[in-house]
Amino acid sequence: MATVLSADVKDLSLAPVGYQRIVWAERDMPVLRAIRERFEKEKPLAGLRMSACLHVTAETANLARTLVAGGADLVLVASNPLSTQDDVAASLVQDFNIPVFAIKGEDETSYYRHIAAALQHRPHVTMDDGADLVSAMIFIALNRLDDVHTEVRQWAAGLPATERTGLVGNVVASMEETTTGVIRLRAMEKDGVLKLPVIAVNDAMTKHFFDNRYGTGQSTLDGVIRATDVLLAGRRVVVCGYGWCGKGVAMRAKGMGSHVIVTEVDPIRAIEAAMDGFEVMPIAQAAKTGDLFITVTGNIHVIRGEHFAVMKDGAMICNSGHFNVELALDQLEQQSKTLNKGVREFVDEYIQPDGRRLYVLGEGRLINLAAAHGHPASVMDMSFATQALATEWALTQKGSLEHKVYEVPKAVDQWVATLKLQTMGIAIDTLTAEQTKYLASWEMGT
Ligand SMILES: NC(=O)c1ccc[n+]([C@@H]2O[C@H](COP(=O)([O-])OP(=O)(O)OC[C@H]3O[C@@H](n4cnc5c(N)ncnc54)[C@H](O)[C@@H]3O)[C@@H](O)[C@H]2O)c1
Repeated sequence: MATVLSADVKDLSLAPVGYQRIVWAERDMPVLRAIRERFEKEKPLAGLRMSACLHVTAETANLARTLVAGGADLVLVASNPLSTQDDVAASLVQDFNIPVFAIKGEDETSYYRHIAAALQHRPHVTMDDGADLVSAMIFIALNRLDDVHTEVRQWAAGLPATERTGLVGNVVASMEETTTGVIRLRAMEKDGVLKLPVIAVNDAMTKHFFDNRYGTGQSTLDGVIRATDVLLAGRRVVVCGYGWCGKGVAMRAKGMGSHVIVTEVDPIRAIEAAMDGFEVMPIAQAAKTGDLFITVTGNIHVIRGEHFAVMKDGAMICNSGHFNVELALDQLEQQSKTLNKGVREFVDEYIQPDGRRLYVLGEGRLINLAAAHGHPASVMDMSFATQALATEWALTQKGSLEHKVYEVPKAVDQWVATLKLQTMGIAIDTLTAEQTKYLASWEMGT
């Protein structure tokens, strides 16, 4: 493990491979590249300290390059202990001079030491994927130091009281990348503790509509396949949650020849799944029949002890939701006779008292990032273009944003979508004057 100046990455000698992967991803990120080229000339982020807590992937590296090109003084830390690509992290430090604090497989202490490094940067803008960075800031501002990890507490405890609140007071805006983060930040707003403006990047159409659906759909199955090498055709795949991610996972699994079963708690989404041609049933029933289980709900303990108890011998279980709480793995461990960790990379075997073997993939953490490389670049092109432009927009609003969760302006969504279409070589129609008038009228053509 190499600790270089103000960075903490696994091994700097991995940088050449990381560099190749960053450049390869960039080929498929034309919208972000166009923004980077403009940022290089206009420097809209000049003088801005930024801390980003994101999955450290080749695509994120290209976002980081864009922010730095815009003039930002950026620190990048991991948003999940298993999602870092060590070669990419090394290249960002070595080739791009960007301080990165992220090591794949880091323990909880290192994870929060890295979060503390992001806080020590005293950012004007934060970027979160799951709201861990902002949550730490809010707990510090509320003086609830018992609620933060020791690594963060030790640093925060040494700050004068004014600096603890000043930390969050410095933030012009915080960008949030994922559904789970937006849910947490809206809960803070509701409880009156959100002490900074948030831009819900996840909720932009150019983000969740494509990234959560097509990105998670493809990369989740990629993670399952890399972890297990199993054939998906003919297997019974249970997808828990039919939101944006669940739709993508179910659609792709069906395309691979799986028999897909969906579990839901929302009646509308359950009907949607049924009408999309999937079998819908409660998890208690699905647990008995599934070969592969994938949770994508953003909820806690969706698959728990009673469900593990009835699963078939050989069942595989994984999660692609943000936090590793969707599977009640503590319950599984308690009721298992033996736990064989790492029977192959990213696979742990839990042997039950009756001899059944259950396989948990990626320790219940997002399987697409733990065992595969996360979302493909062309979909992250839109998500991260939206991140970069939302940051630029938030700065133009400096001083006028309240401590609320804001939507990304529609104009940003439209611009990103228009440019993406152009780069895909797809032309579309435009409304004629008559059509525009008709759509605005209640009198014409009835
Ligand atoms: N793996 C990735 O790279 C990746 C990418 C984007 C989002 N995410 C994460 O995936 C999760 C889902 O995101 P989304 O955008 O699809 O959210 P969403 O809100 O669109 O969908 C979640 C669905 O889960 C359902 N649900 C909740 N509790 C359930 C339960 N107990 N059983 C069955 N269904 C239940 C909800 O009714 C909803 O339909 C979030 O944690 C999000 O942060 C992961």
